[in-house]
Order: sequence, then structure tokens, then C-alpha cells
Amino acid sequence: MAALISDTAPWKDLKLDGEFDGIFLDYSRQCATVDTVSKLFTLAEEANLKQKINSMFNGEHINSTENRSVLHVALRAAKDTTINSDGKNVVPDVWQVLDKIREFSDKVRNGSWVGATGKALTNVIAIGIGGSFLGPLFVHTALQTDPEASKSAGERQLRFLANVDPVDVARNISGLNPETTLVVVVSKTFTTAETMLNARTLREWISSALGPQAVSKHMVAVSTNLKLVEKFGIDPNNAFAFWDWVGGRYSVCSAVGVLPLSLQYGFSVVEKFLKGARSIDQHFHTAPFENNIPVLLGLLSVWNVSFLGYPARAILPYTQALEKLAPHIQQVSMESNGKGVSIDGVRLPFEAGEIDFGEPGTNGQHSFYQLIHQGRVIPCDFIGIVKSQQPVYLRDEVVNNHDELMSNFFAQPDALAYGKTPEQLQSENVASHLVPHKTFTGNRPSISLLLPSLDAYRIGQLLAIYEHRIAVEGFVWGINSFDQWGVELGKSLASQVRKQLHASRKKGESVEGFNFSTTKLLTRYLEASADVPSEPTTLLPKI
Ligand code: F6P
Repeated sequence: MAALISDTAPWKDLKLDGEFDGIFLDYSRQCATVDTVSKLFTLAEEANLKQKINSMFNGEHINSTENRSVLHVALRAAKDTTINSDGKNVVPDVWQVLDKIREFSDKVRNGSWVGATGKALTNVIAIGIGGSFLGPLFVHTALQTDPEASKSAGERQLRFLANVDPVDVARNISGLNPETTLVVVVSKTFTTAETMLNARTLREWISSALGPQAVSKHMVAVSTNLKLVEKFGIDPNNAFAFWDWVGGRYSVCSAVGVLPLSLQYGFSVVEKFLKGARSIDQHFHTAPFENNIPVLLGLLSVWNVSFLGYPARAILPYTQALEKLAPHIQQVSMESNGKGVSIDGVRLPFEAGEIDFGEPGTNGQHSFYQLIHQGRVIPCDFIGIVKSQQPVYLRDEVVNNHDELMSNFFAQPDALAYGKTPEQLQSENVASHLVPHKTFTGNRPSISLLLPSLDAYRIGQLLAIYEHRIAVEGFVWGINSFDQWGVELGKSLASQVRKQLHASRKKGESVEGFNFSTTKLLTRYLEASADVPSEPTTLLPKI
């Protein structure tokens, strides 16, 4: 049979799309030509991108400011893989914890682990913030309506307590009975102020209802700091470890996500999620850059940010199940790449990082898309799903509900790319004074990712695509994407305020040591809340 031209390398080189393990990427609507993409590959070579990816997978200490390796890929590696950190294969440790989670979550789910009064624990509150919250929330929200996962969850509930705001405590415990509730305290460091206060609050909620001895049956922990877990009063046997080579925002595949999600959905569902992430890890590690989805996406983001000067990125999944994808990626991306200096500490003469935001389509279309179509240029990620988790068919409708949703998924990228010219408007007899208002400039970049379905496996793939894409951007920019020193200053200033609030409430001390503005604000706050008791008795929300 004669070879087809479309089977040849030159033909394939001209295509602006890629496919791997069911995921289809179209990047033809980027403001980039084939020539641009080839220059981006040259830039990647100059940035030693391949070596940097290999260094990550080899467990080298690429997080140099914290002197740590970056091995979230080991969290989802197959049991027989070898991945070394500091000369030790970490995969057996990973699987030891996974097996412990499987056993524990089975016991809780089948009722052989019960609460202090002998009742089954059907509800879980996971306390944690940042990476100890956003990834698990994203995956939980995505699985909630997946038929297999929702069947497996049955009547069980999983809630997340992140904010130190007492309102969040009230919302979390509302309608729950401590007798049937298991609290999972999730904190890499076990020192995060918000998480530890929330943990003490729920410890009080349990012990005031069931007695202090109930804590060992109703509270478990996930942390790298097992000493502090024990000090807090949680039985070390009920602690699930992870390691300093897992960054907080990259920890959803560790016990941070796997424990709460397994309690809700069963370990076998969560294992599929890990396998999905693993499929992309292998692809990212081995595929040539021309066909490597995270590499292509990362390089195009560098192009958009550094060369076209577009500082933001909109994440627009066309499924409500992915409503927490953008908040999770906000942390992964902005905490990783929001840096001002190179990995060697040299101030960057260009902007790194991007401003991530997003909402599911079509909701976003009725909110901020106006700005994206006619205002500022914001590169968009359109994410579509071929088969809905929950199809709806109505007799006599023009299309089914999912097709209606997907009509928008296909239309929006074209509206952005092609726009509408004044000439087109004139030919439609649009009144001349409205022509400027109805004109769409076009040339607004987007990528489209099409997933065959949204089950646990696909959710894992999507997560890993974003994680690696963000790493690629950081590798090319030459920054350290794995530290987060920028969060420290605010934390230490809050400690100073905490001390002042304590001294003012307990001893009536006046506000001192702050600038004029903060002194005025703090004084006003204290004066207006002078009825707060200085020696309070315990009060928990009652709603
Ligand atoms: O906000 C900074 C941060 O350190 C994040 O990187 C991290 O995900 C979050 O706080 C929570 O930290 P921990 O898991 O140690 O409580």
C-alpha cells in the first residue's frame, strides 16, 4: 500500500495538536506558528529542560533553597518501581502508607472501626489548608458525580475545614454528630496556625460531647511531622506519614488526599486516580517534546507570558465536576512560579508566573468572558469531556444537555480566535454607531483539551498534566518552582498581631509597635469588640 503523506514526519511536524492515552490537545488557536513552536523547543534545549525533568525524576535536590528532592511522581509509582531520594528507594515507603490507608479506610467503611459509642463513622471532616486542602477538594468535587465513585460513597459525607474563620467551623459541624464523625487533621508541618486551631476546636467538639478518651477513635492525622502529631494527642498508630520530598501543593497523591478520598470513595477508586496521574508521569518523562502534552503546554505558557506579555490564564472546564480545578491550580501555579528571582537568586529581568483564575463553562461565559472577548487578552484553557458523568436526555429537545454544554465548548475558542470584523457587521446591516461595540478583534489564544470521560483515572491525568506543565514553565524560566518563601512574611506579621490581641484582651494593653495605619485599625477593632470575654469559657457554634 502506498504510504500516505499524512503518515510522514514533515506532515506531523506541521500539526498543532497532540494525543496521549485518550487525551487530545489542540493548540492551533495559540498565537504561535510552527516556527514559534520549533523556536520554543530550541529555548527548552538552552534551558536544559530535558536534564531538569530527569533530575526531578532521579530525586536530585532540585528544590535547592530547601535542599530537598521533588518526588511527587513517586507517590503514584507502581509498586515495583525504583525511585531514589538520598540513595534510598522511596517507593516501598509510599506503598507501606498506601496499604495502611487501604486497611484503615476499609475498616472505617465496613464498620469494623467504630467511634467511642460503638457507632459507625459515616462522616469525615478533613482539616487542612493550602495544599493540604485544595487538591483533595478538587478531586472530591470531581468524583462526587462519577457513577462508580458516588455508588461507592453511598450516604457517606466528606467535608473540608480550611479557613480559621469560626464560620467555617460552624458550617462544617452543622448537622453532624460527633459520635459518627471522624476528623482527619492534614498538615505537612503540623504547625500551620489555622489548621492547628481548627484541630484543637474539633478536638474540643469531640471531647466535650464524648469525653477526652474518644479522641483516639475520632481523630487521625496526616503529616510529615509524626512527633507533633503524637504531642497533639493523636495515637501514632493512627498517623499517616508522608515525606519532605512532597511539596504541600503537590501532595494530593500522598496520604493528604488518598486518606480522606479513600474514606469517602474506597481505596480502589482512589487507586485509579493514582494510575491516571502515573500514566501522565511516564508520558512526561519519556515522550519526545514534540508529542509531550505537559511540555507543549508549558512552553506555550512561557510564550504567552514572557513574549506576548499576557500575564493571566483562564482555566475553563466545561463540566461542573471540575469546579474546584481552578482554585487548586491557582495554588500549584502561583505558589510555584510566582517568583521574582532565579534559582540562583538573581533578580529576574522578566516576569515569571501567571495569574490563574477560572470557572466552569458555561457559568463563566455569563460572568467574566466579556473581558476575555473584547477587553484584555487572556489565554484560555478550554477543557471538555466527551461523555458526561450524568447524562440527561429529554424528548423533543434539539440536543441533549451535554451537547448543549459542549456546543459552547466548541464555539468559544473560535469566537476568541476569529472574532468579528467591522466589515462583517456592516454586511449584516448593523447600525454604524454600534459597529465598534460589536466588533471582536479575534487573535485571542486558547488551547482545547478533550478528555473521553471524567472518572478517577482521567482526573489523575488532568492533575498531572497541570503539575508538570507548571514545572516546565519554572524550569524554562530558571526559577525554583518548589519553594514558597513568599508566604512567610505575612505569617510572621500575623504572629505579632496575635501577641498584641492577646495582651490587649487579657491585660488591657494598648496597641504598640505598629505603623500608624495598623495601630488605628487594630485600636478600632479592639474598641468595637470590647465585649469579647477576656477569660472565656468554651463556646462552640450551634447551628
Ligand atoms: O501557605 C503556605 C503553605 O506552606 C502551603 O505551601 C501549604 O500547602 C500550606 O501552607 C499548608 O501547610 P501544612 O500542610 O504544613 O499545614
